[in-house]
Amino acid sequence: MKLDNLPKLIQSELLKLPESLLAHIQRARCVGKEISSMHGIDFFSVDLAIATHDLAKNLNGKELIDGCKKMCIEISSDYLLVPKLLHGPLAAAWLKYKFGVSDEYVIDAVKYHTTGYPNMNPVAKVVFLADKLDKEKIKRNPKLEKVLSVVETDLDGAILAYMNILIESLVDQNFIIHPYSIACRNYLLQKNEF
Ligand SMILES: [Fe+2]
Repeated sequence: MKLDNLPKLIQSELLKLPESLLAHIQRARCVGKEISSMHGIDFFSVDLAIATHDLAKNLNGKELIDGCKKMCIEISSDYLLVPKLLHGPLAAAWLKYKFGVSDEYVIDAVKYHTTGYPNMNPVAKVVFLADKLDKEKIKRNPKLEKVLSVVETDLDGAILAYMNILIESLVDQNFIIHPYSIACRNYLLQKNEF
């Protein structure tokens, strides 16, 4: 995927990221292209969101908290318990206020790409899944094959499958689960009666 399809300001921000992170973003953009074409979802919005979703990923917890304060983002206590989860909300604020992106689907897709959220918009669903279905992530965690196997036919089913894997793994490691992830899973279960 070429960077020059993206706005110049965003291209220059991407080029400041570590090579491994940029490589993940590029792989996720390819996955996003496939999923958006499978489901007829606007590729321009999907691609802009995937290209920018990890712009703040390289910051540590303190830098993320400071960055959020600078952007006047209200930080709930759930985020303070796992500050690395703030990289989505911070990148979303940068998109809106530094890069002048007005597409709320793109902004929400970036904001919720790690935790998920109930009733995500179609762009956010694709971005969420493309991030998780980076081929290198599947190699590291073969359980993700389950998500890959349903993504062509059922976006909600794929997100639910991912949430089950995520939550199980967080419980196994005795880690905190962000309430948005639980709420996302509950929403999908109720909506689709899986
Ligand atoms: Fe990512």
